Amino acid sequence: MNLKKTIGSWITDRFDVEKIREPINYQLKKPLPPHTGWFHTLGSLSLFLFISQVLTGILLLIYYRPTIREAFESVQFIMTKPYLGWLYRQVHAWGGQLMIIIVFLHMLRTFITGSFKKPREITWISGVILFLTTLGFGFTGYLLPWNQLAYWATTVGTEIPAAIPWVGDWLKTFLRGGPNVGGETLSRFFVIHVIILPWAVFFLIAMHLFLVRFQGIATLDPVGEEKDIGKKGIPFFPHHLLKEGVVFFILLGVLVTLAIVFPFELGEKADPMQTPHAIKPEWYFLPMYQVLKFAEKMWGLLIISLAPLFLFLWPFLDKSRPRNPLKRPLSMTFFVLVLLSLLIFGLMGYFSEKNVKIFNTDYHIDIYGMPHKILPNATTEPTHEK
Ligand code: HEM
Repeated sequence: MNLKKTIGSWITDRFDVEKIREPINYQLKKPLPPHTGWFHTLGSLSLFLFISQVLTGILLLIYYRPTIREAFESVQFIMTKPYLGWLYRQVHAWGGQLMIIIVFLHMLRTFITGSFKKPREITWISGVILFLTTLGFGFTGYLLPWNQLAYWATTVGTEIPAAIPWVGDWLKTFLRGGPNVGGETLSRFFVIHVIILPWAVFFLIAMHLFLVRFQGIATLDPVGEEKDIGKKGIPFFPHHLLKEGVVFFILLGVLVTLAIVFPFELGEKADPMQTPHAIKPEWYFLPMYQVLKFAEKMWGLLIISLAPLFLFLWPFLDKSRPRNPLKRPLSMTFFVLVLLSLLIFGLMGYFSEKNVKIFNTDYHIDIYGMPHKILPNATTEPTHEK
């Protein structure tokens, strides 16, 4: 007897499959706007990276121990003893970095194509929360190996909210689970990283994708003048799905190559008695960290809180009708300025407190990112690079 037929009739005897066949076919064949291209695969790539993080995270959880006595040693163990332990630890570490890049690029794509405009404001807002939670994954995950860099970056990072009037100190103690970064902080960050954030992101992605499917991908037509896609559209299946398959395999290749060729070092175990020379956060927090150096604590906090606030409110601030980037010169200029300032502050943060050679001349870059020529015979503080 034909196995496929037997399984098919076993299922149809029990479930009214016909009822869901039509909506599934509709979703698969739904035409996408003609401008849908490679950049429209960034959302699915973000989803792929989230799934990869969950899978490699589950593998890490088998041997990871969230206590200050065992955390560092358990990561050392994962990297040397279990079968392919080194690989899934590196894929998880690199996956976290790539996820931030890809989610950010996806956000830029939806900004450039004006997809955040009516009626997709809620999709954009759910996306902003997804972006912030992705950064939250980075911040909480960084502490888990309990090494020197992580310990001190978290000490500095959890000091920032203390500048908020009235509730600042309470917030700092709440994050740390005590006056200092210690075992309580580690267990708090662990719970946030492996339970709270993954479930929050799971439900947010479900909502985000439902909205995207329900409302369809935005065309480049101005708001209120959307034309029917008709025959010009690209079918989701197989055309767009094939593109997503291609980028999926490329990303998988990049991820594994990075994990093998540029492995993340574990460094030294956290030592609260020994402060390193220059404490810096991960690269994606560098622009924020640099801005905080220039402004008074309270003002600095206010300035850096404006960025997420603007992101949330953007669909309600820019209510112009055109979506085509060429017809939005003001938005695009603002966008380029924001990207440039992120880059400049990020670079200043990266090179601060380091010695660099520019055109054969040695410079010391001070804490504010300003270069000072090193005079011959002058002594400068040693720099401990990451
Ligand atoms: C884990 C994070 C995210 C996942 C898994 C995700 C997933 C997706 C997917 C699969 C699509 C449809 C295909 C595409 O346009 O690429 C999409 C569309 C969209 N996403 Fe996201 N996304 C994420 C984060 C974000 C962020 C950070 C924003 C912006 C702040 C955002 C805003 C949007 C918008 C406005 C659309 C509609 C695009 C259109 O109609 O042209 N998403 N998302």
